[in-house]
Amino acid sequence: MRVLGIESSCDETGIALYDTEQGLLAHALYSQIELHAEYGGVVPELASRDHIRKTLPLIDEVLREANCTRVDIDAVAYTAGPGLVGALLVGAAIGRSLAWALDIPALAINHMEGHLLSPLLEDNAPDFPFVSLLVSGGHTLLVDVQGVGQYEVLGESIDDAVGEAFDKTAKMLGLSYPGGPILAKLAEQGTIDKYTFPRPMTNRPGLDFSFSGLKTFAMNTWRDSGQTPQDQADVALAFQTAAVETLAIKCKRALKQTGHRRLVVAGGVSANIALRQRLDAMPHIDCYYPQQAFCSDNGAMIAFAGAMRTAEMVKGDKPSFAARPRWPLDELTTP
Ligand code: KG4
Ligand code: ZN
Repeated sequence: MRVLGIESSCDETGIALYDTEQGLLAHALYSQIELHAEYGGVVPELASRDHIRKTLPLIDEVLREANCTRVDIDAVAYTAGPGLVGALLVGAAIGRSLAWALDIPALAINHMEGHLLSPLLEDNAPDFPFVSLLVSGGHTLLVDVQGVGQYEVLGESIDDAVGEAFDKTAKMLGLSYPGGPILAKLAEQGTIDKYTFPRPMTNRPGLDFSFSGLKTFAMNTWRDSGQTPQDQADVALAFQTAAVETLAIKCKRALKQTGHRRLVVAGGVSANIALRQRLDAMPHIDCYYPQQAFCSDNGAMIAFAGAMRTAEMVKGDKPSFAARPRWPLDELTTP
């Protein structure tokens, strides 16, 4: 079965074709970074309009690359939430219309489930059960994963997501958008132990996160420094070290609580090398990540999540659809 995946929840249009027998056939991504850069963050209305421009040409590109035509598509999987409502509606409208016109099933996919399952696209895919650490621009989640659709959220951020804290700290340091990867690069020039930032919420039990105080700590440290390029790198390193250490402490706790030995990390921040090095160093734990191209938003993870849920696909479903700006993972059902 060939599943077309459509991702349009934020500032990336991602399209992919996944074959349940042969694996990923083709994928394409268009990033709107340049469009939003001058505003220092995503402008939702501009994002929606750009998804309208890019989705159909990208679908054609992916089909060409896979040596297929539209009639070779057996099902459509599209991101229905969480995300920006206008952006989601573009992917949902195109996905549903295409499925209706081709008389094939369409399925609404949860974006965070897409991230959660993305490491399973790799050759050395983890077996269930595992603990999943989901670290993106909108979410920080620890999830006990027993199988596809069997998710128990163990902890989440009570304020800023970790990616959001990276981006806001980067912006405050005068770095361009999106700041996370730029801050990570700058941290390589930082002086180790020049500053030590707090590890929020690690000195009390529980698996929730809070990153907004860390961002404020970075802001105050930067304000009181000489604001030289070296100070900028030192603050970046101290922030990244504290964020990574906090995530690692909570992962260790979640692994102990569940008794699992496998840790699966996904979402934009899973591209962070310091995070990977810190987690890989944990004894007796096997860590799994998506390839770099599939850490951030992409169509492959949505096509794959659709392929894992083919049992739920109903042909001839009515062509109506909804977007869900908020959609908790533990509301999903087992396929
Ligand atoms: O998963 P994603 O592409 O989009 C959402 O679903 O939110 O995650 C984007 C987030 C942004 O906050 C971005 O700055 C962050 O991931 N990010 C990074 C790195 N690469 C992307 N943060 C830290 N280090 C990185 N290397
Ligand atoms: Zn995402």
